[in-house]
Amino acid sequence: MARRRSDADLPVPGGTVTAPHLLNLVGHTPVLFVDTPLPYPHDGFWAKVECLSPGGMKARAAVSMLTGARSRGELRPGAPVVESTSGTLGVGLAFAGQALGHPVVLVVDGELEPSMRALLRAYGARLEVVDRPHPVGGWQQARLDRLAEVRAGLPGSYWPDQYHNPDNAAGYTGLADEIAGQVDAVDVLVCSVGTGGHSAGLARALRRYWPALRLVGVDTVGSTIFGQPARTRLMRGLGSSIHPRNVDYRAFDEVHWVGPAEAVESCRRLATGSFVTGGWSTGAVARVAAWTARTRPGARVLTVFPDGPHRYLDSIFDDGYCTRHGLLGPTRGHPVEIHHPQAVEVTRWSRCRVVVDPVGPVGPGGAPHTGPAAQGTEPATPHTGAAGGARVPAWN
Ligand SMILES: Cc1ncc(COP(=O)(O)O)c(C=O)c1O
Repeated sequence: MARRRSDADLPVPGGTVTAPHLLNLVGHTPVLFVDTPLPYPHDGFWAKVECLSPGGMKARAAVSMLTGARSRGELRPGAPVVESTSGTLGVGLAFAGQALGHPVVLVVDGELEPSMRALLRAYGARLEVVDRPHPVGGWQQARLDRLAEVRAGLPGSYWPDQYHNPDNAAGYTGLADEIAGQVDAVDVLVCSVGTGGHSAGLARALRRYWPALRLVGVDTVGSTIFGQPARTRLMRGLGSSIHPRNVDYRAFDEVHWVGPAEAVESCRRLATGSFVTGGWSTGAVARVAAWTARTRPGARVLTVFPDGPHRYLDSIFDDGYCTRHGLLGPTRGHPVEIHHPQAVEVTRWSRCRVVVDPVGPVGPGGAPHTGPAAQGTEPATPHTGAAGGARVPAWN
């Protein structure tokens, strides 16, 4: 591999391939036109197939967070990177760590699939496995607590803090540029929301091309992000039990909460009808994108499939698992409409055309973020308030 002199020579993910470097593997993913019924026929939507990039979609965020920290001197050459993850960002960080020369320590939990643990270790990451959830904040808070302990024993380590780090969202500018070169126009962008990174970064960058773009957020039932009460969640990747500051509430025109049975049905139909499929978030966004294409004829709808199916072979694609969790029954082809995100607790696919920041204006443009810029501080405490924040105008 050719030697480079400084970070200024690093390739930009998705940019023109100019020199041999691991980072050149990121991006350049295809878009696929999906018209498989999900479960009803629809006019079709575009899917950006991010599983064909090493590390999936989150490699873009990982590279952006590490290069951003290096440029500010927060991450010194060769220093360890420590992060809490439910899996996908872990692969992205393992990749970015190798590409940039940093050891990676990942705090994961007992729910992480054994295949994923093996993969992360194979890529050279050290795993710290949390074996019981926090009584209030669940697995996510338990991981953040362990992360603080690990960092205390690793002086000079860097914590990307994917939930609150603006470099996460900024990492998706290249994704937007790729899309703009692949499709004529996008009217509606459908994004899963976990840390909020790709919905915020992609919508911001795509609106430079198409200012009237509508953004539809897709969360899971039991997730607090858009104001619902926290419940145990089967679905991983999208959804959260905290309120990540990367979620750009003002950017959204509507939100959907999808349940696991609905995601399973979509993943399985995608696999047999379009070959390209993925995990919980892929099933959820595909469901909502198909419904949007069906109910808004003529709209050009695009979504992002964040990862592929392999880590879900023992869950989404396993009949025993799905039967045990009651996920194989028939599902409805349309969402329940609710008038406010906090009006009722949703238990199956639901839609709301009002988007509210449940903890007030702490997202981009709000209070200063306390993530990576405040390295050395405790992990952010989950917000548990449910008071209504800014009401965001909705479309029809
Ligand atoms: C598989 C998968 N899908 C979707 C998401 C949500 O993306 P974001 O964190 O950019 O909101 C994540 C986040 O970790 C993920 O791992």
